[in-house]
Amino acid sequence: MSLNIVIMAAGKGTRMKSATPKVLHKLAGRSLLAHVLGSSEPLAAAARIVITGHGAEAVEAAVAGGGITFVRQMPQLGTGHAIQQAAPALVEGSGQGTTLILNGDVPLIETATARALIDACAGHALVLLTVDLADPTGYGRIIRNTDDGGVLAIVEHKDATPEQRLIQEGYSGMMAAPTGALKRWVGQLRNDNAQGEYYLTDIVAMAVAEGLPVLGVKAHSEVEVLGVNDPVQLSQLERAFQARQADGLMRAGLRLADPARFDLRGTLAHGQDCEIDVNCVFEGQVTLGDNVRIGANCVIRNVAIASGARIHEFTHIDGEQQGASVGAGALIGPFARLRPGAQLGAEVHIGNFVEVKNSTLANGAKANHLAYLGDATVGERVNYGAGSITANYDGANKHRTVIGNDVHVGSNCVLVAPVTLGDGATIGGGSTITKDVAPGDLAVARGKQVALTGWTRPAKKR
Ligand code: UD1
Ligand code: MG
Repeated sequence: MSLNIVIMAAGKGTRMKSATPKVLHKLAGRSLLAHVLGSSEPLAAAARIVITGHGAEAVEAAVAGGGITFVRQMPQLGTGHAIQQAAPALVEGSGQGTTLILNGDVPLIETATARALIDACAGHALVLLTVDLADPTGYGRIIRNTDDGGVLAIVEHKDATPEQRLIQEGYSGMMAAPTGALKRWVGQLRNDNAQGEYYLTDIVAMAVAEGLPVLGVKAHSEVEVLGVNDPVQLSQLERAFQARQADGLMRAGLRLADPARFDLRGTLAHGQDCEIDVNCVFEGQVTLGDNVRIGANCVIRNVAIASGARIHEFTHIDGEQQGASVGAGALIGPFARLRPGAQLGAEVHIGNFVEVKNSTLANGAKANHLAYLGDATVGERVNYGAGSITANYDGANKHRTVIGNDVHVGSNCVLVAPVTLGDGATIGGGSTITKDVAPGDLAVARGKQVALTGWTRPAKKR
């Protein structure tokens, strides 16, 4: 039995008041459409078709690949019209196929629910995902037979009578239909209704008229059928999604000081005895070993943090594409910044207002205050003083600084790359180092001290 999945994503999303197409707005770091595609991926469909219209080029570019077929709907004359455009792309295969219809702006649909719709359809029934709503305003209402509760039709809110508007069972916008019949039905749709649109929901009455079974499957949570139409709904779904993720992590043993103040926009793997204080944001791929503690107000992206490391408050780590790593037992922050290619060994200390980019620090190296290490290779047990920097960029090219084991760099030094400091060298505070320093040597290179004799401090204005 061949399965088609059609995701409707042509609508405008006027209430987002944004130049970005609605389905590209982000929820937990991924677009709404990417969430829907992610949930439908495990269903192993013969074809996945995304219907685009408003902002089609941007939408197609954002989710291209992965065997997705795009069908453009211009102009957008309703959900039925959308499926009319997709009909030629539906794979029928041999026997009775099923087509699952999802919405690009309903991001939290669960794979299990989608699978339940497909199974109930089995290529011959029309299956609607419905939901009981405290306030069903705006939703199509499920009209059921008073005798046996069978579904008779969906009536759109704008076309519904006052009695029909009292019905609290709404249509979620998602259904599974027999592919051949679906093609035939959408060819017969008319637009003589309150909105002058081709309603996909009108196929329900057609199926009933043909004597086909029409089933309503209820969603097990409201969250999985909620659509995003405005920033309020987007933020509500974001919170619901974050709560679900936090819950899963805590059940797997991660200790969160407050799950309501935790955000994960990607994946977070962790060992045992890890603790995360409030207001931390994790993005991309982050892995924590055992016994890692993360202080409040950290932003942490694309990094591997080894066991026993402490990330103190207000630290910003962003490995970007290259990644970054923090060694076992390292102490980072508060107020530290690790950038792409920061590779820190065991027991490394990076203190306040220290920035590390594309640099390797061997075990036990320390840069505790106000410093910059860029494009550097730093040996074991190096002590890198406050205010010292690598001058790694000459305006055109970046150069490396190599600092041997056990080197002491005093405060306020400028290491002009390319330059190498041999093992055990000492650099006097305030030095500007432009030439290599031999192992064990002391290098002091300061500007001449200027004394202005007879100078007096100006009197304070009164
Ligand atoms: C639709 C349903 C309604 C249901 C509600 C749930 C119809 C006629 N009505 O109404 O019964 O309760 O969803 O949210 O189907 N789209 C296109 N092309 C179009 C029009 C819409 O691709 O021409 C897409 C939209 O981008 C969106 C989805 O279809 O992803 C639903 O469209 P929307 O306009 O929100 O439908 P509703 O009026 O809310
Ligand atoms: Mg809608």
